[in-house]
Amino acid sequence: ATHSLFLLPGDGIGTEIMVEVEKIIAWSNAEGLTDFAIDTGLAGGCAYDAHGEAISEDDMAKALKADAVIFGAVGGPKWDNVPYDKRPEAALLRLRKDLGLFANLRPAICYPALADASALKRELVEGLDILIVRELTGGVYFGEPKEITDLGNGQKRGVDTQVYETYEIDRIARVAFDLARTRGNKIHSADKKNVMKSGVLWDEVVRTVAKDYSDVAFNHILADNCAMQLVRNPKQFDVIVTDNLFGDILSDVAAMLTGSLGMLPSAALGAPDAVTGKRKAMYEPVHGSAPDIAGKGIANPIAMIASHAMALRYSFGMIELADKVEGAIASVLADGLRCADIAQDNRKTVGTEEMGAAILAK
Ligand code: NAI
Ligand code: MG
Repeated sequence: ATHSLFLLPGDGIGTEIMVEVEKIIAWSNAEGLTDFAIDTGLAGGCAYDAHGEAISEDDMAKALKADAVIFGAVGGPKWDNVPYDKRPEAALLRLRKDLGLFANLRPAICYPALADASALKRELVEGLDILIVRELTGGVYFGEPKEITDLGNGQKRGVDTQVYETYEIDRIARVAFDLARTRGNKIHSADKKNVMKSGVLWDEVVRTVAKDYSDVAFNHILADNCAMQLVRNPKQFDVIVTDNLFGDILSDVAAMLTGSLGMLPSAALGAPDAVTGKRKAMYEPVHGSAPDIAGKGIANPIAMIASHAMALRYSFGMIELADKVEGAIASVLADGLRCADIAQDNRKTVGTEEMGAAILAK
């Protein structure tokens, strides 16, 4: 096989929606459009049950070797009381850390058929296609000191530290500019350089990188204004690059412009390999394992399938096939097919398998 995919379906609906991706891979292999070798492992609660760890060393080694990892979702009430470092989410953190996944790609695409499900008016979101590129391994979530200290007078002090170094900003900016070139050639960099030193450095480094991409239109925007503009006029944006904290918030705002959690894919990319130039990458839906609907066969597989489409696009440069898969999603939605989470106007809803089959048929 030319390329390798490592599938980690995980827990709950993760296993149900991954099945629909496997069918698409089997089809594209059979058609000769792809030549994927597939391997499957355990991550999350299922791995804990099997090995006593959220992910085994064997599966970690496979994830590191694969050209891309396709991840379902992990977690569930069954594992609420396992030791902290073995909880299902520990698998995700380990994968992100060991694969060095510092760039989180969160698209916000509004399918015309679902425009009325948006938090905004149809004309504001119809045709919306934004990509938020969030720095994932630095900033205030990781900076030191990070502590609560007792001041001894009945008062305490909580401290988190926003830290960014040049190389961290440079590499995320390059990911974002490279992506902008494959899309609308337009980028907004969001920070708070008006009140934060790390923001001043962020802007300085991003502007330096921008000089290497003179074909991409560069815009600076203050993060708070960016939040406002996302709600006021989201279609002005194409690629938005920002730090870990602002990216967390802005991507959730953007998500709500598009409808349901069950529709949202994501990708996490690492540094290019020194020899092959290929980036480590993991693709996963934004949603979790949805224990409330697990086992019922009603989970929406679209976020999972769209995550696979992102893998085709960003890890393998299979643009036509990625367009085809995303087009099939848009097409079944236009036909009126809905899973329960995106049901509209008392329309009949379909289950996971029927939605997956309809997309595959397109
Ligand atoms: P969740 O995303 O699993 O579910 C939130 C709500 O959205 C639920 O009502 C669920 O039924 C619905 N939903 C989610 N995905 C759906 C889909 N594809 N189709 C239809 N409906 C869908 O978040 P929640 O409930 O906070 O967490 C459940 C478990 O998932 C927890 O153990 C949590 O830690 C874990 N989790 C895992 C993530 C991951 O693996 N990346 C991310 C978020 C949560
Ligand atoms: Mg969030």
